[in-house]
Amino acid sequence: MFHKFVLFCLCCWGLTGVFGDSVSVMEGDSVALFTDTEISVADEIIWRFGAEKSLIAKMKKKKQIPSTFNGHDGRFRDRLKLDNQTGSLTITNITTEHTGLYELYISGVRESSKTFNVSVYARLSVPVISRNSSQCSSSSSSSSSSSSSSSQQNCSLVCSVVNVGHVTLSWYKGNSLLSSISVSDLSISLSLPLEVEYQDKNTYSCVLNNPISNQTQHLDITQLCHTCADSVSLIVLISAAAAGSLLIVAAVVIFCIFRKHRKTDQEGN
Ligand SMILES: *[C@@H]1O[C@H](CO)[C@@H](O)[C@H](O)[C@H]1NC(C)=O
Ligand SMILES: *[C@@H]1O[C@H](CO)[C@@H](O)[C@H](O)[C@H]1NC(C)=O
Ligand SMILES: *[C@@H]1O[C@H](CO)[C@@H](O)[C@H](O)[C@H]1NC(C)=O
Ligand SMILES: *[C@@H]1O[C@H](CO)[C@@H](O)[C@H](O)[C@H]1NC(C)=O
Ligand SMILES: *[C@@H]1O[C@H](CO)[C@@H](O)[C@H](O)[C@H]1NC(C)=O
Ligand SMILES: *[C@@H]1O[C@H](CO)[C@@H](O)[C@H](O)[C@H]1NC(C)=O
Repeated sequence: MFHKFVLFCLCCWGLTGVFGDSVSVMEGDSVALFTDTEISVADEIIWRFGAEKSLIAKMKKKKQIPSTFNGHDGRFRDRLKLDNQTGSLTITNITTEHTGLYELYISGVRESSKTFNVSVYARLSVPVISRNSSQCSSSSSSSSSSSSSSSQQNCSLVCSVVNVGHVTLSWYKGNSLLSSISVSDLSISLSLPLEVEYQDKNTYSCVLNNPISNQTQHLDITQLCHTCADSVSLIVLISAAAAGSLLIVAAVVIFCIFRKHRKTDQEGN
C-alpha cells in the first residue's frame, strides 16, 4: 500500500503539484505535474494521456516553444500549460474526465519516461436528512387505530444525496458508525434509513465521503420528528375546516331550496 506518493498542496493558489506517480485532487483544482529531472538543451519533451496515449503537449527544449493539444476528444481545450523552462505540465480547472494516466517522455541526451496517475473527485454536497413520509402516514394510521405502540415511539428517517460517484454514505451515533452504503459508479441517488426514538438524546450525523473529502449533516430529532405529526394534524385541521364550510354551504343551499319551495307552494295556493 505504500506507493511513492508525494503531494504538494500550494493551498494559497489552489494548486496541487506532483513529483511522484499518484495523486488525488478535487474537481476545479489546478494540478502541476513536475519534471524533477534536469532537462538538457538537446531534449525533447512529450506528454501523453490515457489508454489512447494521445499527444497533449510537446516542446523542444532548445526552441522553448511549447505546444499543447486538445486531446483526441477535445477534453483538454484551454486547460493545459507547458512550462517552457522545466517541461512541467499544468492542468487547470480539472474535471473528473481528466482522471487517468499522464505519461512524460524525455528524449535526447538520455531517454526517460515517467507516469502520473491522476484521480479527480467531484466536490461533495451536504447530504439531506428527511423524514420517511411513507412511514409517517403508516404510523399515524396505526396510532389512530391505537395498536402498535413501538412504531409510535420511533421516527423513520432517511439520509440522501443525488448524482454521486465513488462515495460512501454513513450514519454515525456520536463517533460510532451505525450503517453505511457505498457506490463506485455514478449514481442518480443514494439513501440510507435510520430509526430513532422521539426521546433519543444521542447525537446522530449523516456523513458523505469520497477518498479525499467529506460532508456532514447533523440530525435534529426535535425538529424533524415533529413536523410529521404537525403536518398530519394540519391536514386533519384543513379537512375539518373544508368539511365544515361544505356543511355550511349545503345548509344554505337546502335553506334556499326550502324557501323557494314554500314560496311556490304559497303562490300555488
Ligand atoms: C518562456 O515563458 C516565459 C513566461 O512563461 C516567457 O516570458 C518567455 O518568452 C518564453 N520563452 C519563449 C522562448 O517562448
Ligand atoms: C471549469 O470547468 C467547468 C466545466 O468544464 C466550467 O463549467 C467552468 O466554467 C470552468 N471554470 C473556470 C474558472 O474556468
Ligand atoms: C490509479 O489510482 C487509482 C486510485 O488510487 C487506482 O484505483 C488505480 O488502480 C491506479 N491506476 C494505475 C494504473 O495504477
Ligand atoms: C420509507 O419506508 C418504507 C416503508 O418501510 C420503505 O419501503 C421505503 O423504502 C422507505 N423510503 C426510503 C427512501 O428509505
Ligand atoms: C425503534 O428504534 C430502535 C432503535 O432506535 C430499534 O431498536 C427498534 O427496533 C425500533 N422499533 C421498531 C418497531 O421499529
Ligand atoms: C472528514 O474530514 C475531516 C478533515 O477534513 C476529518 O478530520 C474527519 O475525520 C473526516 N470525517 C470522516 C467521517 O471521514
